[in-house]
Amino acid sequence: MNNQDYLDKKFHNFVERINDNEIKKLWIEHPGIRKKFFNFIYNDIANIDEPNILEFGVRHGCSTALFLDVCKQNNGYLYSVDINDYSYKFQDERWKFICSKDNDLSKITPQIPKQFEVIFLDTIHKADHVSDIFHKYYDKLKIGGFFIIDDTNWLPYIKGAQHDDFFKEVNNKETFLKLLEIYSSNKDNFYLDINFCDTGTAKITKINNKKLNDTSKLLSREYSIKNLIRRIVYKLKKNK
Ligand SMILES: C[S@@+](CC[C@H](N)C(=O)[O-])C[C@H]1O[C@@H](n2cnc3c(N)ncnc32)[C@H](O)[C@@H]1O
Repeated sequence: MNNQDYLDKKFHNFVERINDNEIKKLWIEHPGIRKKFFNFIYNDIANIDEPNILEFGVRHGCSTALFLDVCKQNNGYLYSVDINDYSYKFQDERWKFICSKDNDLSKITPQIPKQFEVIFLDTIHKADHVSDIFHKYYDKLKIGGFFIIDDTNWLPYIKGAQHDDFFKEVNNKETFLKLLEIYSSNKDNFYLDINFCDTGTAKITKINNKKLNDTSKLLSREYSIKNLIRRIVYKLKKNK
């Protein structure tokens, strides 16, 4: 069985296990959600034994359903945080809901385990917020664990695109660039994979227990005089 057939089978089985019909419908009717969440991360998390998973952002319950399913299959626990009370969404002994702002460490820390195999962020899709939450919770990620960040692709939101939206375009692009910046200063500490399906997802795989290095600005030459001259010379040669 190739990887796609394997994922199709696993996806079918997962959807069959979802009790909530609204959430089931969302997973079936939005192939983008499947591509960016399921296809991109399922192979990584499906076989983790007794995982502890920390999720920020519940609303529709799509990601919650996926992580809870993995926890139920593998004897794990899912801790979901949201500023709104979504405690009614799931009744399961493997799920704990925490009504809180994601950055409120003093409220959240006493209610969660010390370490996690997976941390998932899907709350405020702004670069500074993503960076803040990433730095606040990175220590709680185990070696080999995944920090997954939703909404890192701006292409669906550019002018004239299907979901044309100024703020989502610039926020997602700034988040993407911020992650590159953090990665550039931490290449020895984690791997960074970015998936451009739908609105995009970033997957950070922790490879050691070192503290994160401070992030330095990326010194791009894109807008340098040298590059400007290079482009003019290229145009002149092309038009000859
Ligand atoms: C995009 S929705 C999450 C969607 C969900 N992951 C899913 O798959 O259906 C974003 C959620 O983040 C929550 N939220 C927004 N800002 C927050 C914050 N600072 N702390 C915690 N939750 C927040 C919102 O209440 C909303 O439920």
